[in-house]
Amino acid sequence: MREEVLAGLRAPRKALSPKFFYDARGAALFERITTLEAYYPTRSELAILEARVGEIAALAGPAVALIEYGSGAGQKVRLLLDALDAPVAYVPIDISGEQLERVAASLRDDYPQVDIHPYRADYTRPLELPRFPMARRRVAFFPGSTIGNFEPTAAAGFLRRVRRSVEDNGAMIIGVDRRKDPAVLERAYNDEAGVTAAFNLNLLTRLNRELGATFDLAQFRHQAVFNDEASRIEMHLESLTDQVVTVAGVAISFRAGETIWTESSYKYDLPRLEQLATDAGFRIDQLWTDPDQRFWVGFLAAAPADH
Ligand code: TRP
Repeated sequence: MREEVLAGLRAPRKALSPKFFYDARGAALFERITTLEAYYPTRSELAILEARVGEIAALAGPAVALIEYGSGAGQKVRLLLDALDAPVAYVPIDISGEQLERVAASLRDDYPQVDIHPYRADYTRPLELPRFPMARRRVAFFPGSTIGNFEPTAAAGFLRRVRRSVEDNGAMIIGVDRRKDPAVLERAYNDEAGVTAAFNLNLLTRLNRELGATFDLAQFRHQAVFNDEASRIEMHLESLTDQVVTVAGVAISFRAGETIWTESSYKYDLPRLEQLATDAGFRIDQLWTDPDQRFWVGFLAAAPADH
């Protein structure tokens, strides 16, 4: 963490990896974001999953091993586990260890016939997935438009690795946020209650605690803007003054107005999504949307391997 953080803060364009958001408080604040009225993606995605889970289960088929990348609070997967025909295993992968164990324990209680196999990892790195001899196919579950938090080339690289992990008969259920009115997007990432601001600023609190940094939270401000050309929301922490902050013993200087880029959330249109899926070796079998057409849930099947 120390080396990654320092590299990010010494770069000409300061940036920090969003994976550092998720300490215990960050994970809790994120769960609050997902309940906000302004933050439509969770609601839209749940509405699609609820309406289509029968169709999704039929496409997935019986006896699957379900692998979730970034399982978080572990709520969405319950819809799938309820609808799937005799799922064999569920592998929740998450970077937040406390949450992972809690979620696994509660799923074991509720789904005793499913092999619940938590895996604490940064899933942007290569993973060795467990094998389940009784499973007929692997199905990846990647909801929440987390794909949007990857740069486009990294998104393609990640999906290609998922494609390899699920093998030639595998599939993927993915949630993707759609391009839309920038005002709707910006409000979703800058709610009036300030929960997203607290979530973003919590990164600095974490650096103060874990790396002995000296960030004064009153001297930084949360910022979320839609970059239309790149089709992404950008979250930044803006320095309100010229200041010098010590991080892990290293002095980092900020100009007033300079920002630390903490996350992007890419918004997809159909051509971009098709390109992404095809590049990664998937074929889009089904794409469902919500009545307001804000979000997609897609069922992607592994395309015959040619690479
Ligand atoms: N992947 C979701 C999104 O981009 C959720 C998310 C990740 C998020 N980091 C966030 C939402 C930070 C708000 C703020 O929307």
